[in-house]
Amino acid sequence: MKKILITGGAGFIGSHVVRRFVNTYPDYHIVNLDKLTYAGNLANLKDVEGKPNYQFVKGDIVDAEFIDALFEQEGFDAVIHLAAESHVDRSIVSPLDFVMTNVVGTVNLLNAARKNWKGNYSSKRFYHVSTDEVYGTLGETGMFTEDTPYDPHSPYSASKASSDHFVRAYHDTYGIDVVISNCSNNYGSYHFPEKLIPLAINNIKNNKPVPVYGKGENVRDWLWVEDHARAIDVIFHNAAAGTTYNIGGHNEWKNIDLIRLLCRIMDQKLGREPGTSEQLITFVTDRAGHDLRYAIDSSKLQKELGWTPSLQFEEGLEKTVDWYLTNEEWLNDVTSGHYQAYYEEQYANR
Ligand code: NAD
Ligand code: DAU
Repeated sequence: MKKILITGGAGFIGSHVVRRFVNTYPDYHIVNLDKLTYAGNLANLKDVEGKPNYQFVKGDIVDAEFIDALFEQEGFDAVIHLAAESHVDRSIVSPLDFVMTNVVGTVNLLNAARKNWKGNYSSKRFYHVSTDEVYGTLGETGMFTEDTPYDPHSPYSASKASSDHFVRAYHDTYGIDVVISNCSNNYGSYHFPEKLIPLAINNIKNNKPVPVYGKGENVRDWLWVEDHARAIDVIFHNAAAGTTYNIGGHNEWKNIDLIRLLCRIMDQKLGREPGTSEQLITFVTDRAGHDLRYAIDSSKLQKELGWTPSLQFEEGLEKTVDWYLTNEEWLNDVTSGHYQAYYEEQYANR
């Protein structure tokens, strides 16, 4: 019986990781710790909330006393750490929020693990989920490998880079069993509609402008979120202590090409004349410090642990559009802020 703390499990990727672990490992007890910020939504986990091996705890990783007490009380065997402020544009507006959750929150978890595990790290593991954005930007060619030097440009990526360094430092200094993975852009169900793909789906559906930053020339390497959750599972169970793996889809798209493909799919799904949705594309002021291109070389993960992405992008994007069109209530709730008001009331006295 393993007791695993998953942080940020009510968010986009975290909810897929929680679902996978709860369903695949009935012998594990999964504790999902989440602050339920604007990005955290328990509706993402409706299908697992009644499972006997699942438990939700509302809390903030920035609160060191609370985190220490939780470790003391629960005695976790492992941590899979996803809780973070994750949106680059928000980090440009409020960098300190990113320092607090992404850096201080991570160090609080490392401290609690260290205190609670008392130097006995056999069968203990701290898995830190990170991003390819720590490597900075690529030009027209090349790919990020695990040895690419860190060169973050946004407050978000700087905070994630810092947290990665702390995780490695706790391995080198105190001997904690850690693993880190750095993943490219995810897409799929339960993705909060501030991020490019769900935002564009929602705007196209509602006949609103689709904002494309700059000239739409920036390139991202898109991965199906369930493939990321499967990679986390494989790495969690098989990686050697202290190692890092890059995770990516070998699936590079210029933003403008991706949005045009999405417009074609939406026209078809909504029964619109071909070309109708493309008229919504609106070029807007570029993001400050906008990284030009990300591309992940995941050959280490493929060769050493046998993981490969399962879905072709066109198929995954169509599935994603279907999910958003079917789950209108979820989309309306998160865009109206209805669920946030509900949680504020629900947790007011806890
Ligand atoms: P998300 O914003 O959808 O979810 C983040 C979750 O963390 C939310 O449920 C939120 O409530 C919770 N959270 C935020 N601050 C917290 C705090 N102080 N205490 C406790 N919980 C808190 O993010 P996501 O896109 O699912 O990303 C999850 C992780 O994966 C992040 O660490 C991110 O850096 C990393 N990542 C994301 C992507 C991507 O494409 N989305 C790619 C690579 C890596
Ligand atoms: O690479 C992994 C990272 O991917 C994760 O670490 C981050 O948490 C995640 O948010 C994502 O970051 P990006 O900045 O790449 O994702 P976003 O969806 O915000 O933007 C994707 C691209 O689309 C980027 O080049 C900016 C552009 N964009 C974004 C938005 C929201 C637009 O052109 N218009 C938009 O409205």
